[in-house]
Amino acid sequence: MSVKIYRSVHELKGFSLKSCPAMDQPSGVLMCPPDHYQVLAVKNPYMAGQVGAVDRERARAQWNHLKEAFDAAGCPVSLIDPAPGLEDMVFCANQSLAGTRPDGQKVALLSAMRHSSRRREVESFEAWYAARGYRVMRFKAGGHETFEGSGDAVWHPGRRLLWGGHGFRSDPEVFERVADAFQTPVVLLKLVNERFYHLDTCFCPLTPEAVLIYPSAFDAASLELILKIVPIVVTVGEADAGARMACNAAVVRSKTAILQKGATSVANHMLALGLGVCEVDTSEFIKSGGSVYCLKQFLFDGPAG
Ligand code: ARG
Repeated sequence: MSVKIYRSVHELKGFSLKSCPAMDQPSGVLMCPPDHYQVLAVKNPYMAGQVGAVDRERARAQWNHLKEAFDAAGCPVSLIDPAPGLEDMVFCANQSLAGTRPDGQKVALLSAMRHSSRRREVESFEAWYAARGYRVMRFKAGGHETFEGSGDAVWHPGRRLLWGGHGFRSDPEVFERVADAFQTPVVLLKLVNERFYHLDTCFCPLTPEAVLIYPSAFDAASLELILKIVPIVVTVGEADAGARMACNAAVVRSKTAILQKGATSVANHMLALGLGVCEVDTSEFIKSGGSVYCLKQFLFDGPAG
């Protein structure tokens, strides 16, 4: 069965958030310890000038705090072993997209990474999911299109709907496969600002009714889609979106937002929406272009609150 991809507001006839079936929220997260984390080559604008600049001890302490924050928010953390020589493996959002199909089957769709230095990461995730009862799906061997997992495919909380981002790391064509793998409609958004190279750097669902966005990361048709579909759209200013990667927050069970410290106005918006706010410091990871959201993969291992 082919599942719908929405690319413009003209295609939305009959579609609304409420028309998407309810879906369980994530049951936990998967994280990868930062044993081999470093900045070795520049793959995104955040990494420029940061080669060799990671303070490994600080990175380890920040990662430990983030793990504690997920646990404390009632979101249990599973771990995958870090592999030597894979300095970006710590960014667990990218190697796959985990989720469920409408019949409850757990699925992990493996990514096709844009950069060759990250391709080997995917094998470890394949083995991890296979050992845990996930149906593991992949893209056709020899294909040229790329897909970077939950960096560019974000679940809408509590609804069977995926938001897809393309333009830098993922190709638009791959979302047919994404929609099919999860039997879930995809709203496709085009990213136009290189500093916001993954969807999770400029788009963050806060509650089933509210999202946080950095508007100039999107083209006009994509902004129109977001505004049409989501009742509450909170926008982030340049400094919080860029230097503090505020849209790379993670919201656990529509209750607790975990985000980089210092994005005060974003934190206030979150509080006003009734969320608890937990600030963490991910500055060593922002040097590589990642913060809270991309240091984990949401897992769907059963009903959660
Ligand atoms: N250095 C990594 C890269 O460029 C960072 C990935 C961050 N992930 C994310 N989903 N935003 O690939």
